[in-house]
Amino acid sequence: MDKLVVEGSKRLTGTVEISGSKNACLPILAATILTDDKSVIKNASALRDISTMIKILKNLDVKVKQEGAVVTVEPSGFKKYIAPYELVSTMRASICVLGPLLAKHKRAEVSFPGGCVIGPRPIDIHLKGLRALGVEIKVEKGYIIADGRKMRGSHVYLGGHFGSSVLATANVMMAAVLTKGVTVIENAACEPEVVDLAHFLIKMGAKIKGQETHRIIIEGVKKLHGAEHTVIPDRIEAGTYMIAAAITRGDVTLKNAKLEHLIAFIDKLESAGISVKKVPSGLRVKYVKKLKPLDITTLPYPGFATDIQAQMMSLMAVTDGISVITEKIYPERFIHISELNRMGADIILEGATAIIKGVKHLSGAPVMASDLRASAALVLAGLVAKDRTEVHRIYHLDRGYERLEEKLAGLGASVWREKEK
Ligand code: EPZ
Repeated sequence: MDKLVVEGSKRLTGTVEISGSKNACLPILAATILTDDKSVIKNASALRDISTMIKILKNLDVKVKQEGAVVTVEPSGFKKYIAPYELVSTMRASICVLGPLLAKHKRAEVSFPGGCVIGPRPIDIHLKGLRALGVEIKVEKGYIIADGRKMRGSHVYLGGHFGSSVLATANVMMAAVLTKGVTVIENAACEPEVVDLAHFLIKMGAKIKGQETHRIIIEGVKKLHGAEHTVIPDRIEAGTYMIAAAITRGDVTLKNAKLEHLIAFIDKLESAGISVKKVPSGLRVKYVKKLKPLDITTLPYPGFATDIQAQMMSLMAVTDGISVITEKIYPERFIHISELNRMGADIILEGATAIIKGVKHLSGAPVMASDLRASAALVLAGLVAKDRTEVHRIYHLDRGYERLEEKLAGLGASVWREKEK
């Protein structure tokens, strides 16, 4: 296993290139099996989660070739419909093969995805949406056994206790595109990643409207054809580097970053006193004055993204004053607090609300990565901590950040990867 070593107190400057979105690419790769034709997916980042999705497709006897950031998928003739425990258990997003398998083969057996450190991660909304389309579902020996022979278009409400569901919307949309009749998804997720999936499906010949809203209308078609698609940039990776610029009082340009994908987050960064400007290549983020504390609540898009909550907490940990962060999507997504406090932060948790008292400085420490975004928060804290921080178990980071240490070092950070002794 590897660890990341970070030596703090270096101001980041320069340009960093934002890679393709992990959370757009995963459902889009799943959608490629909706046709017998070849599809070409570009700007696919070299991430563990992308490799896992490719393994799942190959396990279905789908031909997949990855050359750099280009993934070519040739599904013709595949007959399998099982996504096994040993693969699904390593990545919860594997659940998004359920919809395409039902659309294509009218049957699917997918291992029930487990929870993870950010919460129980139920799939009741996925199953409710598919049942509304007429799918018969039972759970046996930890597998979802789904029979889609009686599927037809339907009207379904996909809102849950925490609002809309990104991958449930993706699953129902992918099941509906080849299902006779009209499907209306109410309280659909409208994250940029869902919109990108809809754009890919439309390129394949699907009839979809309203993908940028909370009401998506799909008219089923008989057949889809292959398509070529370039995945949108990763807005969560972009948000992470924007905070890296802010926390080190730097001045960083993010190539390919899209302002319109991060409106709520940028609104908060600017309220804190950070300058964010659109430039021809993307976004320029600059520290201009002493930061102000913030009051943040995570919400479904277009609200503040839960996937940037941990990273923002690192910034608030060294911002003078009292900040408050309330987590409305994953109320347990606070595993980073204990590690940040070990680095000298002063954060307490009241239910799903963290109260952060800014401290003058953090001190480096050996810390443990646990969840993708919590790990990123620890690296960000390490960038401004005195002395050295060692982040262990960084395979969590490799799931969602492409060449993290290389990109940070390119901005002037003193960070490198070492083998665990
Ligand atoms: C997607 O997960 C993202 N993953 C997550 O990013 C992201 O945090 C999440 O959306 C919210 O934005 C991918 O796209 C691969 P949800 P998803 O269904 O679709 C509850 C990262 O770091 N819920 O929108 O699984 C759920 O527990 C990852 O890149 C149900 O109750 O999330 C949560 O509280 C982490 N029942 C809320 O809804 C369900 O059937 C939103 O979850 C489904 C979800």
